[in-house]
Amino acid sequence: MTQPTFKPGQIWLDTAGKPIQAHGGGILFDKGTYYWYGENRETPTRKIHEIADWDCKRTDVIGISCYSSPDLYHWKNEGVVLTTIPDDPAHDLHPSKVVERPKVIYNDSTGKYVMWLHIDTWDYKYAATGVAISDNPTGPFRYLGSFKPNGADSRDMTVFKDSRGEAYLFHSSEWNKTMYVTPLADDYLSTGKTLARIFIDQSREAPAVFKRNGKYHIITSGCTGWDPNQAQSAVADAVTGPWETQENPCRGKDAAITFYAQSTFVFPVAGYKDAYIFMADIWNKDDLENSRYVWLPVRFEGDSPVIEWRDEWDLSVFNSD
Ligand code: DGJ
Repeated sequence: MTQPTFKPGQIWLDTAGKPIQAHGGGILFDKGTYYWYGENRETPTRKIHEIADWDCKRTDVIGISCYSSPDLYHWKNEGVVLTTIPDDPAHDLHPSKVVERPKVIYNDSTGKYVMWLHIDTWDYKYAATGVAISDNPTGPFRYLGSFKPNGADSRDMTVFKDSRGEAYLFHSSEWNKTMYVTPLADDYLSTGKTLARIFIDQSREAPAVFKRNGKYHIITSGCTGWDPNQAQSAVADAVTGPWETQENPCRGKDAAITFYAQSTFVFPVAGYKDAYIFMADIWNKDDLENSRYVWLPVRFEGDSPVIEWRDEWDLSVFNSD
């Protein structure tokens, strides 16, 4: 059998031969299986003409997809695990709303799978975070509602679960100018008081947070809508900072625009030493359904992540445990 590989930027088919629909996604590793959650954008892309100050394009919401994999190469479609509510135009999950960047973490105390996501109105002015819960990684997820953490904006976001189970919401706030670090309650269903404002007035979004050798890392993008821009990494001894900004983690051709992609998640690969994968989206803003995925290995120079383009690669770039 030929060795399966990752082919960044190319169409990625699921085990049924259909293109994977899991944009702005994240990975959960649970009991030996990887789960990939992301936006299903299998509807036509429309320009929103009512918004004049930026190039707003959208797809009607279908819901959040889940795919499962034993090996990170082969993904089985587990279906739409958080579905829309088409008959209530006021509902957060109505197809006319914005439902983006889902991330799922497992709560060891309650035994529940908890999904956090960006919930917005069609014009991105509500700026809230939503929560859904399930007994199983493959759903169905029950939607619990949305809110603005401590009354503050929350647009692009991620959740990060730390080694002892404490979890944090990283969210672009203050009209995306400043990122907030806000703790989740023990059951992961609500938030506490925001602990830190980071990257103040730096307009960072698309946060991907991970931990390595006791240090916390975050990779973010700038704010240019669906268009690519330069990534930035930062490192800290605590999630609340201080965060020391590093240089662009991407190297080589097109590194200045993150290889045409935008960060969404970084995760450690089980069974390998010091192995992390950077996940990003090459948005096709005129046809969002046909946006592509970029997965690349992360290597480290001291405490600085480095991401280089590869046309094709496999997990043998990492050292086994
Ligand atoms: C950039 C964000 O990172 C995406 O998730 C999406 O909200 C687009 N902006 C919309 O233009």
